[in-house]
Amino acid sequence: MLLKDFLSEGVKALGSLYPASEAHSIMQMLCEERLGTKSYTHILEPGYTIRPEDVPVLASDMERLVSGEPIQQVIGKAWFFGEEFRVTPDVLIPRPETEILCQEAIRLCSGKQSAPRILDLCTGSGCISWTLAMAIPGAEVIGVDISDKALEVASTQDFKACIEGSGARAPRFIHADVLDTEQSFAHGMFDLIVSNPPYVMDSQKAQMRVNVLEHEPGLALFVPDEDPLLFYRAIARWSRRFLAEGGKGITEINDLLGPETAAVFSEAGFATAEVLQDLSGRNRFVLYS
Ligand SMILES: C[S@@+](CC[C@H](N)C(=O)[O-])C[C@H]1O[C@@H](n2cnc3c(N)ncnc32)[C@H](O)[C@@H]1O
Repeated sequence: MLLKDFLSEGVKALGSLYPASEAHSIMQMLCEERLGTKSYTHILEPGYTIRPEDVPVLASDMERLVSGEPIQQVIGKAWFFGEEFRVTPDVLIPRPETEILCQEAIRLCSGKQSAPRILDLCTGSGCISWTLAMAIPGAEVIGVDISDKALEVASTQDFKACIEGSGARAPRFIHADVLDTEQSFAHGMFDLIVSNPPYVMDSQKAQMRVNVLEHEPGLALFVPDEDPLLFYRAIARWSRRFLAEGGKGITEINDLLGPETAAVFSEAGFATAEVLQDLSGRNRFVLYS
């Protein structure tokens, strides 16, 4: 089969799930991963023919994509902050907005004399922990999650080559229930606490795409409508217990609940709790200290 035909048929097959431009990007990602082709191969080489031995894998990939499985799960990887992270159905696929959280966190740590200690609550794939560990030389990062399967993914991300000889330290990953705020956690104090906890209200499910609802872990996403800020109260409590003098916290939030989320941190006793917006003006993070 010609590559150009496979691409156009694939875009058509994904048409009911994704806008055409996104379907096109998904097909490009698939071909790049499985065939090693580039986004322009089908244009420069219109006669490029897919080898018969590659066809069965592509056919099974297409079946998964058409069933709504995200491309990142089909190919087992996602790009985040310029690095390739392993993903499985047990972890949230890292989102672009979380890259902004990492940028802010790196900015908060810049200019510090000593390497910071960082706690990442609800670490999932470990994308925040690994990004900060690799970007901030010497940073000691601990990632916490309740899901053993997520912790397995986080702790086996393959960044040995980036870490070795760079002065960076691999993060440590620890099992804990963040909602159990009074548990013993004997890992010292932290200069920065970061988090991207579950924050999507159950009632928001109706606006979400089927491929997210059916293929990403509900544990990573949803909170009850009756108590949508439960993780923030817990994060505020962890921060009261484990933030060092002068330490800061930053957490991703539900954009519908910006002021309410900031109020959780003010009420917990933090002197400042500021809602940060993204470039499109959406409430994205609360920064507190
Ligand atoms: C929104 S995902 C964030 C994952 C990752 N930090 C990211 O930004 O892509 C939330 C994570 O919280 C974890 N989680 C859910 N409930 C938890 C709890 N009670 N204690 C600790 N982690 C929890 C889930 O397993 C999931 O990995």
